[in-house]
Amino acid sequence: MPLSFRSRLTAWYIAVLATLLAGAATLIILILQGMAERRLDATLWVLGATEAEGVVARLRDRGLRAPDDATVSDIDYRMLPGYGAFRIQKYVTVVNREGRIVDFSINLPKPLPISDELVRRAMRGEIGYQTADVPDVGRLRMIYIPVLRPQFEPFVVIVAVPTEFVGAEIGTLSRRIAAIIIAVLVLAGVSGLLLARRALRPISEISLAVQRLTERNLHERLPEPRTGDEIDELVKVFNQLLARLDHAFDAQRRFTADASHELCTPLTVLKGETEVALLERRTPEEYEALLRSNLEEIERLSRLAANLLLLARSDAGEQQIVKDLIVLNDLIAEACARLSPLAKEREIEVYVNAPQLILLEGDRLALEHVIMNLLSNALRYTPRGGQVSIEAALTADGFARLDVCDTGIGIPPEALPHIFERFYRADNARAREPQGSGLGLAICQAIAKAHGGRIEVESELGKGSRFTLFIPLAPALHSAQTHEGKGCASVCAAQEERIAESPARRWMKVFSSLLHL
Ligand SMILES: Nc1ncnc2c1ncn2[C@@H]1O[C@H](COP(=O)(O)OP(=O)(O)O)[C@@H](O)[C@H]1O
Ligand SMILES: [Mg+2]
Repeated sequence: MPLSFRSRLTAWYIAVLATLLAGAATLIILILQGMAERRLDATLWVLGATEAEGVVARLRDRGLRAPDDATVSDIDYRMLPGYGAFRIQKYVTVVNREGRIVDFSINLPKPLPISDELVRRAMRGEIGYQTADVPDVGRLRMIYIPVLRPQFEPFVVIVAVPTEFVGAEIGTLSRRIAAIIIAVLVLAGVSGLLLARRALRPISEISLAVQRLTERNLHERLPEPRTGDEIDELVKVFNQLLARLDHAFDAQRRFTADASHELCTPLTVLKGETEVALLERRTPEEYEALLRSNLEEIERLSRLAANLLLLARSDAGEQQIVKDLIVLNDLIAEACARLSPLAKEREIEVYVNAPQLILLEGDRLALEHVIMNLLSNALRYTPRGGQVSIEAALTADGFARLDVCDTGIGIPPEALPHIFERFYRADNARAREPQGSGLGLAICQAIAKAHGGRIEVESELGKGSRFTLFIPLAPALHSAQTHEGKGCASVCAAQEERIAESPARRWMKVFSSLLHL
């Protein structure tokens, strides 16, 4: 079973803590051991000096000039009381001026294993220390005390005590430290687990809340802890994500409802009219009128279906644009020509201001569709006698810019953020143009985006609107066109052929049924 994040966090924490504590404890023990060894040597020196003094006193009492085989062997060191829990024994060996062992204490099975080198040095007056393992006795620390007095021949008294004294002390200390470390680790583990649980509780709450989320309660938000920490940030980001999801789901729901409604209306009309017509026999003229009326509804339906298909494709990222070299001025002229009957009918003056030839790479039919759409909106939402103007220019930052301005009804500020949404129609537009479907601008924006561009809008209610299309220019075209004169002319001439040749594209199929949204 995989460990929970909490357990892993605690395990890591314990592992790091254990390593640090063990390292620190080892260091402390090593330092203490060094100190204890130095203390043992100092104690040994006092012991050795006292022992040497005792030997000297006994030799003097017996009137001897040099130690003999009864110098220390008559003392039973084992009779000395021990220190604390330790029955410390003192072991003594006496070496004469020739470096030969003359006597040793009776608690030793045989003399201490002495070092000739240390004996020689002692004869020169140097105190020496040595650690040695003695069979049947154990590990001993020895001190070599020289006795160099004028009334005696020089000799060396070697005194030893078991190192076990220090070792036992350090051992006890190590065991206690180990026990303390284990206790600390257990406590740290338990408190670490509790702390981790406490620290991670908000995350568990988030995951519980996420489990509870369904499409229906997307409007609910997680309570923000407002602590200003990482968890707070996570909750905030999560709530923002929820808000976006909620919005997207909402838009999706509205879209489906609107799309079905838009599809149902013409179908209802078709059905109703056909049923009424079938109630009795009709004249051929009446049938023809009915079929014409039906055809209108069918056209409306197929336009709608084509638009929906286009948007669905652009959502899925499948609507790839085919890039041709096109002259924007031509597209404007074409759109104006096509919409001039509408302009005439509505008695609206259309002005075009595009003094510079603008070449750009893009999908001819799609861009023509955008211009037609913006222009037809401008004409439809402008009262009789109004004016519509189209301007085209290059921007300094490498965009072709097309403005469609009107002196029309304008868009209420609260509607402005929504007009590019699918099926969205401002109320005043609804009243004025009952035929609209609210998909036109959504499609225009999708086309602009597919070209790497965008559409912006400015509008004042009752005064008019300005829709601006930006399409980025390929770098080569941008530099050729911004250098006046020959450059542009040669680019135009060279590309003329290509423009003429440009094949009918996939868009054609879709757009052939889209005109005059
Ligand atoms: N030139 C304009 N003047 C005023 N309102 C406009 C203009 N263009 C678009 N709108 C508003 O934007 C909405 C969406 O436009 P569009 O997507 O073309 O849909 P439709 O024209 O079918 O209503 C319109 O319903 C209208 O409210
Ligand atoms: Mg429209």
